[in-house]
Amino acid sequence: MNAPWKANAAGARDPFHAFVCDDLTLDTIRGVCDEMGWSQEKANKGGLRNAIQSLSVAASPQILMVDLSESGDPINDINALAEVCEPGTIVIALGQVNDVRLYRDLLLSGLQDYLLKPLNPDAVRDAIAQAQAALMAPKEDGTGDKPHVSIGVVGTRGGVGASTIATSLAWTLSDRLEHTTGLLDLDVHFGTGALAMDLEPGRGLTDAIDNPSRIDGLFIERAMIKANDKLSILSAEAPMTSPVMSDGAAFFQLQEELRAAFENTVIDIPRSMLISYPHLAHDLNVMVVVTELTLAAARDTIRVLAWAKSNAPHCKVIVVANKVSNASLEISRKDFEATIESKIDQVIPADPKATAQAAKLGRPVVDAVKGSKVSSAISTLADNILSSAIEEAEEEDGEEGGKKKKSVMDGFKAILSKKSD
Ligand SMILES: Nc1ncnc2c1ncn2[C@@H]1O[C@H](COP(=O)(O)OP(=O)(O)O)[C@@H](O)[C@H]1O
Ligand SMILES: [Mg+2]
Repeated sequence: MNAPWKANAAGARDPFHAFVCDDLTLDTIRGVCDEMGWSQEKANKGGLRNAIQSLSVAASPQILMVDLSESGDPINDINALAEVCEPGTIVIALGQVNDVRLYRDLLLSGLQDYLLKPLNPDAVRDAIAQAQAALMAPKEDGTGDKPHVSIGVVGTRGGVGASTIATSLAWTLSDRLEHTTGLLDLDVHFGTGALAMDLEPGRGLTDAIDNPSRIDGLFIERAMIKANDKLSILSAEAPMTSPVMSDGAAFFQLQEELRAAFENTVIDIPRSMLISYPHLAHDLNVMVVVTELTLAAARDTIRVLAWAKSNAPHCKVIVVANKVSNASLEISRKDFEATIESKIDQVIPADPKATAQAAKLGRPVVDAVKGSKVSSAISTLADNILSSAIEEAEEEDGEEGGKKKKSVMDGFKAILSKKSD
């Protein structure tokens, strides 16, 4: 969800306002206001509802404290507050419900903090100090505590369906799971990311490769093409006369900016690009290796998996066998698994009817032919990818015990809980 107050645009506004429900809380906050040199009038009685009313007609303060005690549906009310709150406002909530789930959901909806009542003046001071630090911080990279999952999709051979899966995956993440998602199609000459959604690729990706220094948040906003409310794509149909001339800086920069701008990134990576730009895999959380069940593909799956092991050891690898039909198995699943010395994590059946229909409609197969087995398999794949991201975060959490990692993990879990909606 968009959280307008996460944006950083603190102009000349009132530094602070509080809307609280009871006298004790009011006294505590007024005490802290005194210490800060703010007028006591900045703290008023009246909870969330008053805050919404007052902000709909007046300028938002830099730091807003709201008491949720009288709110029956805090998340919903916080979203209503977001509608009237100007970008740049940092919101700290107060409440008497000690519930980790609520806390996590509130943070995910963009709140800075949630303080439990009765308030401890030290906690109030701390929260305000942190809010001020956030206001002073240079332009936020947009990631904050927001979980980001970066997914690379690599085909072991041409035509195995990697791009089909990448576009449908991006569609599922953005549409069913409602994550803001950026799809980066690195098949610079022959990419189908835009084509698959009946869009013109534009010059964005070509410009990015030619001028990596121009790549920033604004560039991403302008260059990417909207495929749905939450999905933007960057793709190209570069002329066959221009080889990709890049030292890789553009790809690195693009990944950075996509990470800041979206909750998920899906990168369609032709295997040849991995050879030229191995660092493409460095920032991936998950690498989806798409293969067919053929002998040649078995050989190349072995090679891609070995490559991933040495070049992206941190990355969770998911092996997907696509276009699987019982009719024409060159090699059985069992033999394939024995050959590659690894399990196939997911099988996607061959369904030429569904993919042809999708191509004709210019829509990803998960959208065009929702009930097909291909679509449900790709949908399951999306869920599994996010689960793997949790596992990865948990493992890292175990290793480092970092607080930050933990909140990222919570974010993943919240995302997963959405999938049942
Ligand atoms: N599960 C499937 N069943 C049948 N055809 C498929 C399936 N997945 C992909 N295809 C088709 O295979 C062709 C190649 O797919 P594409 O995604 O472009 O492969 P890649 O990116 O690996 O080269 C496309 O025509 C696509 O519609
Ligand atoms: Mg492709």
